[in-house]
Amino acid sequence: MQELSTRKLWSIGGGKGGVGKSVFTLGLGICLARLGKKVILVDADLGGANLHTLMGVRYPPLTLEDFLLKRVGRLEDLIIETQIAGIGLICGADDILGAANPTYAQKVRLLNQIEDLPADLVLLDLGAGTSFNVLDFFNYSPGKICVLTSQATSLQNVYGFIKSGLYRQISREFAKHPRVLDLLQQTDLKDSPEQVRSMHDVLLKLKQTEPESHQRLVDLLRQFKVNLVVNMVKSDRDFQAGAIVERVCTSFLSISPRILGRLSFDPAVEAAVNQMMPFPLRQEKGQAVKDLEQIAESVARASLPGSSLPPEEAAQTGEPRPVGTMARLWRRAPA
Ligand SMILES: Nc1ncnc2c1ncn2[C@@H]1O[C@H](COP(=O)(O)OP(=O)(O)OP(=O)(O)O)[C@@H](O)[C@H]1O
Ligand SMILES: [Mg+2]
Repeated sequence: MQELSTRKLWSIGGGKGGVGKSVFTLGLGICLARLGKKVILVDADLGGANLHTLMGVRYPPLTLEDFLLKRVGRLEDLIIETQIAGIGLICGADDILGAANPTYAQKVRLLNQIEDLPADLVLLDLGAGTSFNVLDFFNYSPGKICVLTSQATSLQNVYGFIKSGLYRQISREFAKHPRVLDLLQQTDLKDSPEQVRSMHDVLLKLKQTEPESHQRLVDLLRQFKVNLVVNMVKSDRDFQAGAIVERVCTSFLSISPRILGRLSFDPAVEAAVNQMMPFPLRQEKGQAVKDLEQIAESVARASLPGSSLPPEEAAQTGEPRPVGTMARLWRRAPA
């Protein structure tokens, strides 16, 4: 098994707002700290920062804005100690004009220093949506977690988020390969001139004409490892949302996200948010905390093989794809 120390940086995204990305990031951080890990939480929701509020910090003394605008030189100097031993917090920027759209240079400076933060694990709480900033943080992190709920809109958004991240990564890697970019674009066309509808088809075409690019794309897809956490689960049926997203990703993107776990719906979570008190700190240990502890153990101990291609032979020989149209899969989504 691969040691987790190689996966220090984790991003928590998911595309949709309000699905529990911040609650999960905080809960995971607390459970990891209880396992003896030194954790730093970074509120990377530029423009919509609220992780500090969930931790009971009313007025952050310093935020990412201070770093982005170079009022503070070292990211490390932004860390504030929290009420929880083992957890440091870097607060997000609230100033939309100043920090919500960092330049490329600002982003590189930030990401370089994030890697060097003094911690065993650094968790980045991402904002909603699929803006390039959010996708770049996600793609840069070796550990990728997407939070979703069983709502159809969340399923759609999380798939859109994963796809946007993957396509951005491929577009960057193959910026000088017009054939790859063209095939990729065709997957989004209603009437693709070459009948290219999925990554599987892209691979098939490339295999015939550009074996080198084919191999590089195979490797990229293999390395794009996404972990799914289904939140606000009230029944096993809700939890199936993870399997649906997994299947759609396998069918259309030729990646296989791993289902990392679930977080049960727990009224104590909302109560804790309103009290500005992290919910795992409450005396009574509800199901959501038990779920988080399980996930934290996986994150802390195991390597997380999040994605792999379907058997390569299938991609090469053009065997039928394992599942049908996207519409059919969405219809299977729990009501
Ligand atoms: N497991 C849960 N059980 C019950 N309520 C939950 C659970 N997880 C999250 N919530 C509720 O959902 C709300 C939104 O959660 P959170 O702020 O973490 O979402 P988010 O995805 O970070 O949103 P945004 O994209 O706006 O930052 C919380 O305030 C809480 O009330
Ligand atoms: Mg949030």
